[in-house]
Amino acid sequence: MNSAADPQLIPQLIAQRHDDILLVTINNPPVNALGVDVRRGLLDAIDAAERDPAVAAVLLVGAGRNFIGGADIREFGLPPQEPRLPDVCDRIEASSKLVVAAVHGATLGGGLEMALAAHYRLALPSAKLGLPEVHLGLLPGAGGTQRTPRLIGAGTALELMLSGRHVDAAEALALGLVDRVGTGEDAAAAGLAWVRELLAEGAPVRRTRDAGALADRAAQQGAIDAARATTAKKARGLFSPLKIVDAVQAALDLPFEAGMVRERELFVECLDSPQRAGLVHAFFAERETAKSPETAAARPRPIAKVGVVGGGTMGAGIAVALLDAGLPVTMIERDDAALARGRANVAKVYDSHVAKGRLTAAACEAVLARWSGSTAYDALADADLVIEAVFEEMAVKEAVFAELDRVCKRGAVLATNTSYLDIDRIAAATSRPQDVIGLHFFSPANIMKLLEIVVAAKTAPDVVATAFALARSLRKTPVRAGVCDGFIGNRMLAVYRQAADHVMEDGASPQQIDRAIRAFGYPIGPYEMADLAGNDIGWATRKRRAPTRDPRARYVQIADRLCERGWFGQKTGRGFYLYPDGARTGTPDPEVQAVIDAERVRAGVTPRSFTDEEIVRRYLAAMVNEGANVVHEKIALRPLDVDVTLVHGYGFPRHLGGPMKYADTVGLPNILADIRAFAQEDPLFWRPSPLLVELVERGHDFESLNHPETQTI
Ligand code: 3HC
Ligand code: NAI
Repeated sequence: MNSAADPQLIPQLIAQRHDDILLVTINNPPVNALGVDVRRGLLDAIDAAERDPAVAAVLLVGAGRNFIGGADIREFGLPPQEPRLPDVCDRIEASSKLVVAAVHGATLGGGLEMALAAHYRLALPSAKLGLPEVHLGLLPGAGGTQRTPRLIGAGTALELMLSGRHVDAAEALALGLVDRVGTGEDAAAAGLAWVRELLAEGAPVRRTRDAGALADRAAQQGAIDAARATTAKKARGLFSPLKIVDAVQAALDLPFEAGMVRERELFVECLDSPQRAGLVHAFFAERETAKSPETAAARPRPIAKVGVVGGGTMGAGIAVALLDAGLPVTMIERDDAALARGRANVAKVYDSHVAKGRLTAAACEAVLARWSGSTAYDALADADLVIEAVFEEMAVKEAVFAELDRVCKRGAVLATNTSYLDIDRIAAATSRPQDVIGLHFFSPANIMKLLEIVVAAKTAPDVVATAFALARSLRKTPVRAGVCDGFIGNRMLAVYRQAADHVMEDGASPQQIDRAIRAFGYPIGPYEMADLAGNDIGWATRKRRAPTRDPRARYVQIADRLCERGWFGQKTGRGFYLYPDGARTGTPDPEVQAVIDAERVRAGVTPRSFTDEEIVRRYLAAMVNEGANVVHEKIALRPLDVDVTLVHGYGFPRHLGGPMKYADTVGLPNILADIRAFAQEDPLFWRPSPLLVELVERGHDFESLNHPETQTI
């Protein structure tokens, strides 16, 4: 019920009087982020309520699907605008009139901090509460590091802030983050009913800054020390986690006001850090790649039944990803024994969930009831989508797609999980190339987030839109790619791995290279990774490519020598490293060193030493140069698509944003200068990408290509 006394607010805030309660609805789609207008409006609303004797309480709610998704991330890095969010939160907390927050959906970052500044909190069942700032290289900077520990204790507060995880309404109640869990989906209705109760009871204004969870100083210090020790070990070069611990230490040591000043200092340090820029870049890039020109133009086809051809490593993992999303899956294999292995590969995943207590036996059975198998392709007659994951051989793929063309209904989407092969050629094996697309999953397919959506020459736009819709329902991070040998990721990997191989033949050990790349921020080095994935995969690809290889190009044969000995990596107990008795971590192998020495002699190389820094520079220069080629040839839509691919599929450190963002940070002229210097030794390998050269000449960076509206090349 609107009354004449309602304060005049901005479109992003709606204020309505309900008797003596002022209902303030934050209405700033899509996630009610706390941009400058919302902040100003909230101050005005609290001031208006304070002045109006007819108002006894203020209720804060969010319009749409969420309470508040946090501060407006788009404002980071721009000149700050008053009022600052911590001041708005302080103003809310200082109000002499009761302020209550009724939250639903995303209640994150600054959104939760605002709720914590209110005097009472109610959460609806849809609520997801959290302080995820750490994922953006930040700390909760609107009083979150000061109020949360005072409310729920330092240990729990740190766990929430360092993990950034979301908690549901029931857990929030158990932790003491909220006072009550409501029912239904209408935050305004549930909130108004509760505020009336609070007013009737004469509930006092209650300020979180005065909450007493830090009273037992010794126990709280113990929790902070423990968090500091684990963070120092686990945070691996990340900047903001230890700042979060410092801020909570200030909550314990200082009065509230002084703690807020300290929080601000630490927040600004994080805000100004390159890691914040990298992580915010990654956040927006991940959301950009979820869209494509086709998703805007075409409607996805409905997908209710899916077929998977092949039940090996990838087929089984893809089947699990589909089953996890609630879809029924029909698996096709070559014979009964292979089909039984395929089913066992799928069942193994769910059995381990049961063993770890993540799933009940009954739930496991219910999921597996949606799996069916056959050795006859006719079982796919009514599938809406089929994903092929058979051997990486063109003739086998062509035969499979000819069969799919024969049995599948009209309009079914026919997808291949090929890593490298020409999808135009695979599509030509059918009479309906418009329905054929690449869906390149990464191993393990039920866990890895990246999905390269490879659009072939004749793929129809609604098939592309269907692939993006599928990615969303599988909770994958999709990236649109074009057809070439290896698409975006594997094509780039082949090149920067060659750069590493050159360095190895020229004098560095696999251990030194792996160590240098890990120190840069990768979770695992290239040779450790090769041993984990199986060196036979790369060997098969190199053999396939051999006939088209430029005979003048440098070709390091060390990996081939290891494969000829059957040293494929962890699965054979040795590869670049030794894995005695099924060990997961490798130890240096003197026999591998002997192979490397022999290959240096054969290639006429006099070994020299490398610094870790030079190794990283070569690795990154090769990666960025090939990334530029991939964009130049329109295999990737934009540099940010390369970034998301490398971060989510290849372990590139997310806090650097991705290789293209990293290159912008280092400066493209510096990368180009490195490439030109390395080209003195090997001009064939180190050919600067025409796009990189052009950007440098024009004084532009990769970011200038991420937003086509401002594109100049
Ligand atoms: N600021 C600005 N834009 C935001 C935003 C934010 N906090 N959160 C989301 N958006 C934008 C997205 O970029 C996207 O824009 P687009 O449509 O133009 O691509 C749109 O909102 C929708 O986002 P999603 O596609 O992610 O929507 P979902 O419904 O899948 O998820 C969400 C919603 C859970 C809120 C998710 O967007 C999210 O996790 N957002 C970030 C939450 C966060 O990190 N908050 C902390 C911010 S930092 C902070 O608060 C600092 C404070 O301590 C001072
Ligand atoms: P795999 O060898 O583990 O499994 C292949 C399966 O296909 C086997 O079970 C085999 O019996 C079955 N198969 C072969 N021909 C068939 C046919 N005509 N009809 C039905 N089933 C048939 O191989 P993997 O690793 O699962 O790879 C499959 C595909 O996925 C390949 O194209 C590969 O390049 C690609 N890929 C592999 C990744 C990996 O990390 N292993 C990652 C991403 C893609």
